[in-house]
Amino acid sequence: MNEGELPLADEAATFAAGLTVGRVLRAGDVVTLAGSLGAGKTTFVRGLLAALGFAGEAPSPSFALVIAYEPPDVSLPLWHVDLYRVEDPAEIAELGLDDAVADSALAIEWPEMAGGNVWPEALALTIVPDGVGRRLTWTAPAAWQGRWPPPRS
Ligand SMILES: Nc1ncnc2c1ncn2[C@@H]1O[C@H](COP(=O)(O)OP(=O)(O)OP(=O)(O)O)[C@@H](O)[C@H]1O
Ligand SMILES: [Mg+2]
Repeated sequence: MNEGELPLADEAATFAAGLTVGRVLRAGDVVTLAGSLGAGKTTFVRGLLAALGFAGEAPSPSFALVIAYEPPDVSLPLWHVDLYRVEDPAEIAELGLDDAVADSALAIEWPEMAGGNVWPEALALTIVPDGVGRRLTWTAPAAWQGRWPPPRS
């Protein structure tokens, strides 16, 4: 388990952090993104998607809860999930995340809505306000060793 933090001075830095994770993303990976309203979680996922070759505008899944990106729009299937509007953790079982992770990567905003420790193998990220910018903190389990933090950072 590796823990650390990274300053995100502006929106471009949040996007760039997403790009960096996206370049090492594999099917079966879960990336959880905690942080208060407007922290920059969706911005990060837009970076992830850009690394997977997505060229469009990625909307926030706030209302849809799940937006699934599939090849050929992306090089790897990615489910962008936002649990903010979930009222009962039982609803989450109906989203089919467990099945999706067999062949897709998952990026999950508001993972805390699912209760505790649902994705123990996830790269667990939190974005917190820091002056006019943000700070990214992470917990990276063994599955991410050599991938995050980036070897050259
Ligand atoms: N590092 C940063 N410094 C300053 N502003 C940032 C940074 N990263 C993202 N932002 C800005 O924060 C705002 C909210 O971003 P975003 O929609 O990604 O947040 P979110 O965490 O997904 O919000 P929500 O909780 O509503 O889903 C945007 O205007 C974005 O440009
Ligand atoms: Mg969001």
